[in-house]
Amino acid sequence: MSDASPFIVGLGGTGRPGSSSERVLRHVLAACEREGATTELFDGAALDMPMYAFGTERTDKATALIAALRRADGVVIASPGYHGSVSGLIKNALDYTEDMAKDPLVYFEGRAVGLIAVAAGWQATGTTLATLRAITHALRGWPTPMAVAVNSVLPIFADDGSVSDAGITAQLDVLAAQVVGFARMRALDDLARASAAAERAAGDS
Ligand SMILES: Cc1cc2nc3c(=O)[nH]c(=O)nc-3n(C[C@H](O)[C@H](O)[C@H](O)COP(=O)(O)O)c2cc1C
Repeated sequence: MSDASPFIVGLGGTGRPGSSSERVLRHVLAACEREGATTELFDGAALDMPMYAFGTERTDKATALIAALRRADGVVIASPGYHGSVSGLIKNALDYTEDMAKDPLVYFEGRAVGLIAVAAGWQATGTTLATLRAITHALRGWPTPMAVAVNSVLPIFADDGSVSDAGITAQLDVLAAQVVGFARMRALDDLARASAAAERAAGDS
């Protein structure tokens, strides 16, 4: 993080007009901005990429996603529950993080990851959230304590597409604050480590 404004990348949605997972992701990114972050959204259209394969030429969309994730101080993922799990679109996008396997910050290392599952019933929200947590752990990310399960059958959106349900809004806002707050804590930790290293170096000379 180069200044006091963490950079948060959101990926999610389905590309379906009126996608509920995209709507809740947009809400979280707006909440991150209210917390002082800058954000970039990768929606269903932006994530519509060829199946990940090792060594193939990367499309412009894949290059843009990985460039943003490399710069990210935090990540938010909003997946629909498809047949009890993460959608293929989201999983495929996350598989592209293999291009970060040899980065100084491997995959999502050192970054908080806020997780949201949206499905037409509670059962798939639970299983999808559990899978998102497992994927985040595999990518060395730090799932935030708050994760949000959204039942898209319930009337939680206003006519303009914004999230109108007070309970869901409160949970999404807490998730946003945790992602941004973790990024700030990491930045302070980096400063403290650099300062301690400088003091050690001065003591040695
Ligand atoms: C291919 C497919 C599989 C789905 N599987 C499930 C499921 O297993 N359980 C469930 O509750 N909803 C399921 N749904 C419903 C979606 O999770 C739900 O409509 C969600 O809101 C879709 O996200 P979106 O609004 O962002 O498009 C499925 C929908 C599709 C298209």
